[in-house]
Amino acid sequence: LSRALNVGVVGAGAMGATHVHTIASAVAAARVAAVADVDLERATAVAREVAASRVHADAHDVIADASVEAVLVASPAETHEELVLACLDAGKPVLCEKPLAATVEACRRIVEAEAALGRRLVQVGFMRRYDPAYVELKRLLDGGEVGDPLLLHCVHRNVDLRPSFGSEGALTESVVHDIDVARWLLGREIAAVTVLAPRATRHAPPGVRDPQLVLLEADGGVLVDVESFVRAKYAYDIRCEVVGESGVLALAPRAPVGLRRDGRESVALPGGFETRFAQAYRDELEAWVEGLRAAAPSGPTAWDGYAAGAVTDACLQSLASGRRIDVRLAPRPGLYRASG
Ligand SMILES: NC(=O)c1ccc[n+]([C@@H]2O[C@H](COP(=O)([O-])OP(=O)(O)OC[C@H]3O[C@@H](n4cnc5c(N)ncnc54)[C@H](O)[C@@H]3O)[C@@H](O)[C@H]2O)c1
Repeated sequence: LSRALNVGVVGAGAMGATHVHTIASAVAAARVAAVADVDLERATAVAREVAASRVHADAHDVIADASVEAVLVASPAETHEELVLACLDAGKPVLCEKPLAATVEACRRIVEAEAALGRRLVQVGFMRRYDPAYVELKRLLDGGEVGDPLLLHCVHRNVDLRPSFGSEGALTESVVHDIDVARWLLGREIAAVTVLAPRATRHAPPGVRDPQLVLLEADGGVLVDVESFVRAKYAYDIRCEVVGESGVLALAPRAPVGLRRDGRESVALPGGFETRFAQAYRDELEAWVEGLRAAAPSGPTAWDGYAAGAVTDACLQSLASGRRIDVRLAPRPGLYRASG
């Protein structure tokens, strides 16, 4: 392909609009050919900013559009299964935002449909795998710099999210990123989970468990703890520390400039995922497009989406029951054997 790859974007909300702008401004090998949103005005406004030629209210019109070569799904989780399966039916590559689907059963149906097709068309939007700091952390870990890992400490704090973002959403929408990071960094599946919730912050709506403490038991006895705090108020703060046999690796604050004033030293913290992971979104989309052009997909697979979904499902059960829950994975189809 000498010309740019035509991408159709489904969902023109916060994430869809970010992806549209990233493709238009930073991914030379692709262009936004069409945008769909059930809110046609929103789709029109986003498409106009990047001179995308076609706008649809129905996502299936984008998938069926003969000029659309690849689809980016950034609509809510409940829509993912139907749309990803439609892309598989149409034989079109699809980058689906996390979570892969709203339930573990739906994730499994996607894995089975893709495995039956026999070629990898689905990538899941676990963009942290492209964040330069996480990439470097994994490179050093894999290089043996701290020896074999024993513990992984993760922190996932947001300034605030909409009031409707409940106890379950924190697991399915936020912690799912840390679940994927744990599987990817350790190269191990998660065998069991326990979710604990301390006294809820007074900023949480009544009945909502925020913060939560998630304990993941990886194969081989490595333990992972994830603090999820959706209404932490002060900043968007993502942390990850690996404790190994001979040292510790941790994401460092990214601000290139430290401010010293009034007897203190401080660094700026990001306000949200759009700024913290801007480079990750660029590198994710660039790698996706390059992989499609080279017919060599390399990103997080439908299996990764399913496995993260199975762990999330166990977390939901643990949150509801207060118990430790085993994670049961279906057999991994041959299509995914070589990956993650
Ligand atoms: N990777 C990340 O860092 C990240 C960050 C935020 C959101 N997300 C994911 O992106 C997805 C969207 O999240 P968001 O925050 O942008 O939500 P949002 O509510 O801001 O936007 C969703 C958009 O999808 C549209 N929509 C709903 N149903 C549709 C359908 N059937 N067809 C077409 N459009 C439809 C809505 O009208 C809305 O404009 C979710 O899966 C979310 O988990 C990922």
